Amino acid sequence: KIVDSFMQDVEKGGYPHYMLKEIMEQPYALAQTFSSLQTQDLSEVLKILENARRIYVVAAGTSYHASLLGAIAFRRFLGVDAEALISSEFRVVSRVVKWGDVVIGVSQSGETIDTLLALREARERGAKTVAIVNNPFSTIARESDYVVSMRAGPEIAVAATKTFTSQVLTLLYIIAKLAEKSSAINVDSKAMIHGIKMSYEIAEKALSVSQGKAMAVANKLFQKHSAYYLGRVFGVPIAMEGALKLKEIAYIHAEAYPAGESKHGPIALVDKDYPVIFIYIGFLDELIEGNIEEMKAREAWIATIAPENMVRGSIEKYSNVVIEMPRAPLETRLITYAIPLQLIAYYTATLKGLDPDKPRNLAKTVTVI
Ligand code: G6P
Repeated sequence: KIVDSFMQDVEKGGYPHYMLKEIMEQPYALAQTFSSLQTQDLSEVLKILENARRIYVVAAGTSYHASLLGAIAFRRFLGVDAEALISSEFRVVSRVVKWGDVVIGVSQSGETIDTLLALREARERGAKTVAIVNNPFSTIARESDYVVSMRAGPEIAVAATKTFTSQVLTLLYIIAKLAEKSSAINVDSKAMIHGIKMSYEIAEKALSVSQGKAMAVANKLFQKHSAYYLGRVFGVPIAMEGALKLKEIAYIHAEAYPAGESKHGPIALVDKDYPVIFIYIGFLDELIEGNIEEMKAREAWIATIAPENMVRGSIEKYSNVVIEMPRAPLETRLITYAIPLQLIAYYTATLKGLDPDKPRNLAKTVTVI
């Protein structure tokens, strides 16, 4: 037993939990994923995506949030028809999926049954399937037409962290490569690749600048029963990921929704000291300033994650805590923004005395329907 616990300590690399270790090793994981993508022959994957009638990205849990972000990027940067779907809801579209479509399955483990079944069904209907996985020997990888391997390293903690940022990096990399091939698209693919590559340096900086502030947010959250995570456009899937992390390991109800929806219902819950976490990317989401004001008017407790060079107006005036992210290109921000949210959830769980590596009722890999 003593030897076992000694071995675990060694594996945790001196960190108290696997989750913290995996959060902290993101710069390394991102660098690994980037260099692994560069060495893989993606020409066939790019070819089928280029000619796709429609692209679907299917996944579960955290991988679904990366997929949502990827689908927004497909539409926004390439102007192509892409939709992210929760694997277990694939039936919603299964009657319209056909030959000429591409279905990308995103799965850390490569074993999630719902994602596997969605991909199988897509293939039966004549679509081509691409697996984005961390485990290239997994069932999903074996059963797909093409495999993109992330090589982010093993992830032990139940709550996914480094694989999320690596998934976002991978999807953006594929999009940048597609942009490179198309003259019709007004996207500077070289600049995009540069932004993607910068993510590991920026992740390192983000980790060091956000720890103290993330702890300050956790100090507020751990006493609460509920919180909102709000963003716009690209900020929405990142907000969803932040809220999921808090639910998974700190057992606090957290809801994420597009900030513009507040007045259509959710703001009814907001009163003095209600925690609202804003994710401000600084791209297509300038209206968040107004949302911060409307929350402040209800005396909410506000934390905002924003680029250090964009902290102004109501962000500066009304946020109780501002987590300033390093100045960086948009792609870099999209990859690294989940980092402070992971830290917030981690610190909140530990302040509550919970073990973030072993959340109740959850499993790392779900192989039953
Ligand atoms: C489980 C895990 C989550 C994960 C999800 C999808 O619910 O607890 O952390 O995001 O499965 O897993 P996958 O391996 O397909 O990415």
